Amino acid sequence: MALPQRRLGAAPAAQQQQPFVQHAARSQPRPLRRRAGPVLASAEAAAAPQQSAQPPAAAAQQQQEQQGQQAALQQSVGVHGARVVVQDMVKHFQTRRGVFKAVNGVDVAMEPGTITALLGPSGSGKTTLLRLVAGLEEPTAGRVLFDGEDVTQYGVQDRDLGFVFQGYALFKHMTVADNITFGPRMRKMNIDLEKRVEELLELTGLQGLGGRYPPQLSGGQRQRVAMARALACNPRLMLLDEPFGALDPIVRKSLRNGLRDIVKRIGVTTVIVTHDQEEAWDIADQVVIFNKGAIEQQGTPQEVGRAPASPFVMNFVGDVNHLPASSQLVRKMNFHTDKPFVMCRPADITVHTSYESPEAAASAAATVHDKQNMGKLVRYYLRFDDGVDIDFSVPRRQDEEQYDLDVGQRVYVSVPPERMMGFDYAEVDGSAVTA
Ligand SMILES: Nc1ncnc2c1ncn2[C@@H]1O[C@H](COP(=O)(O)OP(=O)(O)OP(=O)(O)O)[C@@H](O)[C@H]1O
Ligand SMILES: [Mg+2]
Repeated sequence: MALPQRRLGAAPAAQQQQPFVQHAARSQPRPLRRRAGPVLASAEAAAAPQQSAQPPAAAAQQQQEQQGQQAALQQSVGVHGARVVVQDMVKHFQTRRGVFKAVNGVDVAMEPGTITALLGPSGSGKTTLLRLVAGLEEPTAGRVLFDGEDVTQYGVQDRDLGFVFQGYALFKHMTVADNITFGPRMRKMNIDLEKRVEELLELTGLQGLGGRYPPQLSGGQRQRVAMARALACNPRLMLLDEPFGALDPIVRKSLRNGLRDIVKRIGVTTVIVTHDQEEAWDIADQVVIFNKGAIEQQGTPQEVGRAPASPFVMNFVGDVNHLPASSQLVRKMNFHTDKPFVMCRPADITVHTSYESPEAAASAAATVHDKQNMGKLVRYYLRFDDGVDIDFSVPRRQDEEQYDLDVGQRVYVSVPPERMMGFDYAEVDGSAVTA
């Protein structure tokens, strides 16, 4: 069994973000944009401060207008997102070494017009599930329902899908417009192709680029064309597998904001596989955490972030400290577990600088062992008297106002016991089982 290469007390380097914290700031779905506009091109503008609150009547009127615009856009683009249900899905592959259980009893529902993000370690079955939903893979058992209709036996062409897969390249020798209309032309759809191209170029912020060839576009623009192409045949479901994987972080951010705006404007049901947790937490209405072909937890990003259902999810999502269950901090917090190790999030740690307060008296004493500037965060490594280290990260502003600790300084650390979780390394190991 491969154990994660992580020293006790250290948070995983690959998980320096705390996506659920970021997402918590957006507790309500983002409102639909008021004017139809090039959403992808203006995605960065969406991050600008919101305008002041409106009186209720104006807000109601605006909502009505938005709904009317969404209906008009849906009618013109022709998209109606399906309610997609996956029931008890199983996929076993026959391999040289025996049967490999890639997907092992998955149940999930995707509501119309929502974004579901599939997350999980490499080899956990995310792409296989997407391919099963698409009809590109035949299930060993289980069903796929679109609006209650069993489509399990339907071929991929009969499921009304849009794909944006990495490596599912654009046709290099066709213009952007011809790439977009390729699907409708193959299907001999009775639509005004020119109008469809204009609508989709506008929707994806690519106005004026219909005559270009893919090599004349940036990587981000090509992925926008891929999205426009995916939407050209009025899909009921759009499937994206690591669509922005190869792009730089700023372009990724702009594209994912644009994707969310498009989905909310036209109401297509959307499933996205991503390795980028921040991306998932930023755009998804629902996140599904995979491990070894099964779902460990599904829920809103807030639910999964605040209340991880298992040690695997707690460890996989966001930063964690690992401590021996017998360590000073765990004992001082009166946390009891029959597991050998305990996890807690750096964000749940409270540090007192003086022993005077009653809270500090119930804390475990530690020494500031190291301090690192991590951009917007300051990260401290605190060492308890039993030699166990933990990370404690604070936003720079808060650090300046409240902490500004020195290396060697004595501090008093507490963590609410209800925020601790006992675990065994076998439970958090996400490496794929082989046949
Ligand atoms: N045709 C196949 N035959 C045998 N095994 C397969 C086949 N397709 C996929 N698998 C195995 O099924 C498991 C799940 O694969 P899948 O591609 O769904 O993982 P994933 O979660 O998408 O991983 P990644 O994040 O690396 O893309 C892997 O161990 C993979 O090797
Ligand atoms: Mg994959």
